[in-house]
Amino acid sequence: MYDKSNQQIDKLATFSDTPAPSVTRILYTDNDVAARSFIRELMESAQLTVREDAIGNIFGRWEGSEPSQGVVASGSHTDAIPYAGKYDGVVGVVGAVEAIKALRRAGFQPKRSLEAIMFTSEEPTRFGLSCIGSRVMAGDPRVAVSLANAVDEDNVTFTLAANRAGYDEAGDNLQSVAVGNETYAAFVELHIEQGPLLEEQGVSIGIVTAIAGPASLGVEFAGGGGHAGAVLMHLRNDAGLAAAELALAVERHVLESGSQDTVGTTGTVKLYPGAINSIPRNAQLGIDIRDIDGSRRDAVVERVRATAHEIAARRGVVLQNFTVVNQDPPAQSTDFVIEALKEASEELGLGHKMMISRAYHDSLFMARIAPTAMIFIPCYRGYSHRPDEHATLEDMANGVRVLALTLSKLSSNWQAPLE
Ligand code: GLV
Ligand code: MN
Ligand code: MN
Repeated sequence: MYDKSNQQIDKLATFSDTPAPSVTRILYTDNDVAARSFIRELMESAQLTVREDAIGNIFGRWEGSEPSQGVVASGSHTDAIPYAGKYDGVVGVVGAVEAIKALRRAGFQPKRSLEAIMFTSEEPTRFGLSCIGSRVMAGDPRVAVSLANAVDEDNVTFTLAANRAGYDEAGDNLQSVAVGNETYAAFVELHIEQGPLLEEQGVSIGIVTAIAGPASLGVEFAGGGGHAGAVLMHLRNDAGLAAAELALAVERHVLESGSQDTVGTTGTVKLYPGAINSIPRNAQLGIDIRDIDGSRRDAVVERVRATAHEIAARRGVVLQNFTVVNQDPPAQSTDFVIEALKEASEELGLGHKMMISRAYHDSLFMARIAPTAMIFIPCYRGYSHRPDEHATLEDMANGVRVLALTLSKLSSNWQAPLE
């Protein structure tokens, strides 16, 4: 079975806008749509009942004998940032289907229904907003406004992009995507670690106890522009240099927090008009700041905001925009799901360790509507979001085995804790 899931991962990697070994699969593009068909077929061939919601979250369900007891679900995403690898997210979608297939082969009969999920657009590449599918499912109060205003770099709206991909109701029917607190009895996401600890320490399974909270900022400076030769240095108000200063200030403010859990990245800088002999008239930055401690993260965001104003005043440029695109609180895993994962790892004789996730995942939002935890497996040197991302067949197989056993426990043995 594990050999097969590697073939599936290799096949998914062919749906890419950039050449192998890189994978680029952006929301609602042709390759994203092709990957979606592939996942639906995978779920159907596993005899799951497949359903898709208005924005393209895909669900494959195996009905249990006690469906009123809530659903036990597992899943992740298949979209990939530009020049990524083939394991981020994909292991958790293919792995969820494989775990359910393994349970069926073993003759298991679920009480609570089991479900594999492929979430729409965990990555923020196209519209600047991360975890769109799980965020909408969790009923995030700001998401409707964010998506209504979202355009990609070609000025295509979220609704138009969704319509073109075949999701005709994405614009008007966002509410139908939200699921209440009653639907899911538990959620478990399998994912590569995206960090080096499991590999370095020779541990097979990471059990995630908390997920760091990400904030994303969109910042824009506007200056006068002008001719690169003709305008004297003291007469310039260069929007590009304001952006450069702010990028360095992000690093400084993050380091001032004094904790290695605070991290900040200026991942995009766009200069306009973008000619070597033209002073940048406009500069746009995309800034990502995260921490396991939400208030410490928010304090850094406010320092970056104050510094953006200070730079603009000093350089004579206008701070045209400082938008907090999202400022999500960190999530804590749920004790009984952690316990189930621990038991499963021990019963399978697999070493495990408790750890936090510095990356975000759909679990950040599923934790708002379901008792949630995550399984991490080792990946080569902790590499991720790069083409040489790699997980071994053995590590993926171990992750799927722990997932299958955990799902079986959560579907049958576990009794809902008394409120
Ligand atoms: C998810 O891809 C993240 O950026 O953490
Ligand atoms: Mn990712
Ligand atoms: Mn991921």
